[in-house]
Amino acid sequence: MTPILRAGTVADIDALPALWRRAEAGPSTTETADDVRWLLERDPEALLVADVEGEIVGSLIAGWDGWRGTFYRLAVDPAHRRRGLATRMVEAGEERLRSLGAKRLNAIVESEEADAMAFWASAGYKLQTARSRFVKNLS
Ligand SMILES: CC(C)(COP(=O)(O)OP(=O)(O)OC[C@H]1O[C@@H](n2cnc3c(N)ncnc32)[C@H](O)[C@@H]1OP(=O)(O)O)[C@@H](O)C(=O)NCCC(=O)NCCS
Repeated sequence: MTPILRAGTVADIDALPALWRRAEAGPSTTETADDVRWLLERDPEALLVADVEGEIVGSLIAGWDGWRGTFYRLAVDPAHRRRGLATRMVEAGEERLRSLGAKRLNAIVESEEADAMAFWASAGYKLQTARSRFVKNLS
């Protein structure tokens, strides 16, 4: 059955960590259920989920900060891969971010994740080798 894409809601939050574990995509310590709740309070349309009869089989956060659009938490259940689901989710995310005024989109990808690197390249995203990411966790 083809998954439907829809905005994620608070009712979906509990299913996300399990999906991310199945997809071997975290979650990291800064991606708790409360973090998703705060995201949805701030931007109710930012979370996109793929749903098969109530089961969440894909996720994508398309974040807009007023300057750039940034994708986070792209994950597809292993049983649903290589059927274009991530492509559909990213296209939907691109549409949302374009409608909000975004001109450039970012995806932060672990360089050693070959699947993810191949996916983003296939989706038309250019790898910037001349940039590095600096990160600071606020306690
Ligand atoms: C990366 C991921 C989201 C791709 O999801 P998907 O739904 O299988 O991707 P799609 O079917 O839309 O793939 C589109 C194209 O991307 C490329 N691609 C996707 N997965 C690939 C893989 N494992 N190896 C090589 N190329 C791949 C292919 O070109 C593919 O087209 P094709 O199937 O016609 O060859 C999925 O493998 C996943 O959840 N991985 C674990 C979590 C992760 O790495 N997330 C990304 C964080 S940035």
